[in-house]
Amino acid sequence: MNARFARRMKAMQPSSIREMLKVTEQPDVISFAGGLPAPELFPVAEVRAAAGRVLAEIGPQAMQYGATEGILPLREKIAAEMNRRGVACTAEDILITTGSQQSLDLLGKVFLDPGDTILTENPTYLAAIQAFQCFEARFVPVPTDDDGLIPDAADKLAGRYKPKFLYTIPNFQNPTGRTLSRTRRAALYDVARRRGFVIVEDDPYGKLRYRGEAIPPIKAWDKEGLVVALSTFSKVIAPGIRTGWAVASKDVRDRMVVAKQAADLHTSSLDQIVIDRYLMDNDNDAHVECVRKAYGERCRTMEEALEEYMPAGFSWTHPDGGMFLWVTGPEGLDTHKLLPAALEDCVAFVPGRDFFPDASGGHCMRLNFSNSRPAEILEGIKRLAGLCKGASNNIQRRYMHDCFNTQSRTR
Ligand SMILES: Cc1ncc(COP(=O)(O)O)c(C=O)c1O
Repeated sequence: MNARFARRMKAMQPSSIREMLKVTEQPDVISFAGGLPAPELFPVAEVRAAAGRVLAEIGPQAMQYGATEGILPLREKIAAEMNRRGVACTAEDILITTGSQQSLDLLGKVFLDPGDTILTENPTYLAAIQAFQCFEARFVPVPTDDDGLIPDAADKLAGRYKPKFLYTIPNFQNPTGRTLSRTRRAALYDVARRRGFVIVEDDPYGKLRYRGEAIPPIKAWDKEGLVVALSTFSKVIAPGIRTGWAVASKDVRDRMVVAKQAADLHTSSLDQIVIDRYLMDNDNDAHVECVRKAYGERCRTMEEALEEYMPAGFSWTHPDGGMFLWVTGPEGLDTHKLLPAALEDCVAFVPGRDFFPDASGGHCMRLNFSNSRPAEILEGIKRLAGLCKGASNNIQRRYMHDCFNTQSRTR
């Protein structure tokens, strides 16, 4: 075909995770690759009952077009939830989106011209890289450590590159599982205020905390309307329902509404009304508590298995919640090259490099623990550790060989 595609398609790569999911769907593969919640914990019976009630009681109304902002009763419930998290807002401030992923696309449309700079964590969420690449953004990664991104570094980079916004996942970050500390949230907000950029705060995982005290969202500090807070029902009910939300100041929200009208008119009326009914008829906090307990156990199992089986030279994060743990191997390890052998051994992970806008991190990998049961986690980590040991020995042999050759050349 002789079609002339848009220039932006050159920068857009298919998600390696979506591609890999095709392989990992095979039943004998233990997959730590996808970012999937545990399907056995979805509240299927409760959603079925809610959907049945909605269709029986207000059928045609639930199947009609609706307002772009989303249905009012659900926006009221979301506003109440955001207030509980420490964000002062009303239903007026909420835009319901088709998953929080849609907000990333809408924010790209609202803020980004080709070549505009954005700051991100390094590493960051793969599908955010994809979403912002569509708008030909220039990524400037901000260094991170165990407490999340470093505000002083963001300050210097913002002074130099004048970003339109900074994108961050403050709780149990995807991919590292790290959490931005309270002090850093306040400091980062201060940097944004001084430097005059927007913060996009993406928080799909905040409710899935297994250890420690909840930390208020950065939006809780926001007196100037600089923060766009995103969240979703994907991890606390089910991702297939594709319903999330954004809390933003009026000038940003109005523009997101216009962009959303062009994208999909509104998020599925039926999905919104079913969620609203589900929330009225059920105690979703009790449901989230079950999910938290199960994921917390899976996270501990993975940490213990790594402790027992991984060879020297590997380290990993200890997330306080969420769905991911991040493993760092010795310099010289290439996890992209390790992956085919892992798949042969029927275990999967995501190579780290894909999460770095600057393509560093080739010696890292992301492991998901929410979608495997404890016995599978144990077995999968044993297999992975065996492969890591082999790779690590090869690196050492290469190193010795290089040292030997250098010595004989200098003699
Ligand atoms: C950081 C982050 N943001 C956004 C999303 C997308 O979530 P949703 O299902 O609400 O579109 C995900 C999903 O994994 C995520 O990890």
